[in-house]
Amino acid sequence: MKNIILTGDRPTGRLHLGHYVGSLQRRVQMQNSGEYDEINILIADDQALTDNADNPGKIRDNIIQVVLDYLSVGIDPAKSTICIQSALPALHALTFYYLNLVTTARLSRNPTVKAEIQMRGFEDEGLPAGFFTYPVSQAADITAFNANIVPVGEDQLPMIEQTREIVEKFNRIYGETLILPKAIIPENAVQRRLPGVDGNAKMSKSLGNCIYLSDSAAAVKKQINGKMFTDPQHLRIEDPGHIEGNVVFTYLDAFSRPEHFASYLPEYACLEEMKEHYRKGGLGDGTCKKFLINVLNELMDPIREERAKWEKDIDAVYDILKEGTARARAVTDETLEKVRSAMRIDYLKDRSIIQEWEKLL
Ligand code: TRP
Repeated sequence: MKNIILTGDRPTGRLHLGHYVGSLQRRVQMQNSGEYDEINILIADDQALTDNADNPGKIRDNIIQVVLDYLSVGIDPAKSTICIQSALPALHALTFYYLNLVTTARLSRNPTVKAEIQMRGFEDEGLPAGFFTYPVSQAADITAFNANIVPVGEDQLPMIEQTREIVEKFNRIYGETLILPKAIIPENAVQRRLPGVDGNAKMSKSLGNCIYLSDSAAAVKKQINGKMFTDPQHLRIEDPGHIEGNVVFTYLDAFSRPEHFASYLPEYACLEEMKEHYRKGGLGDGTCKKFLINVLNELMDPIREERAKWEKDIDAVYDILKEGTARARAVTDETLEKVRSAMRIDYLKDRSIIQEWEKLL
């Protein structure tokens, strides 16, 4: 069996460091490992519209931002297919068939959708049917690409579970047709959820607590020096400090490597030594923040350079999207044909249906 990856993002904003540790870094590793037959990255603009129907401009603007983020972190269009969901009509058709294999009761139990409904105030405002059923459209995404591996955040596990149920039901009713996918989620807690700079568990644009991959060095410095939550009890440098809940150290857990100490903070050989000194007292937050800024800039400078190159050539980015989407179109159209043929609803293609009709008369 081929190893085919599908992953994707809703283009509702620029990608930030949470996306980097949680998924982008791993995508690039997987891409460069050579262990996978196909890597597909879907810009899920239709899914993004399910709760942004009044604002398609926001989605349009962020499509280019997200592609630039991909390219700048090292997603290589020669190795990975980047494509746009709305330009793949097979996904819409598959969604329509799969909707018949799911009950509204089952959809209501999806814990991620439940939480999202609450967060968006849809309980009072009214729940768009498209939003309520987006897990089914995600099942269409995954199966259309024949993906067996779906790297996602932990919050997406219910979508994969729902997809597996749809696949099993489809294959049971219409015969073995669809590939059963498996989720892979980030390995450790920091990768699963990098907190916002203010210590809030969630990074969000409205909270203003993100560090975006496209942020300048000055913007990163401002976020860290101005907003990053440390230890409120660590008032004087000599005071003992806490590591737990201290965002500077959470970020250092996620991003620092032993080599960084030799370059920027040679007093310590590694993060453990630094933490120990902080706990004991005598290590100031300013020093820790300065070190983190250096660590992040070492990561982000090459990303910034790469982004700047692509930003000067949006035509080339457009071509990448066009080529990726054309490739994806061929694959997803083929799956739709297989699905229609398994259901024997491809009336105008399957000549044997004529004979069956003739027998009826
Ligand atoms: N729901 C995913 C998210 O919000 C985005 C997505 C859409 C996706 N289609 C997908 C992820 C298919 C993996 C596979 O992050």
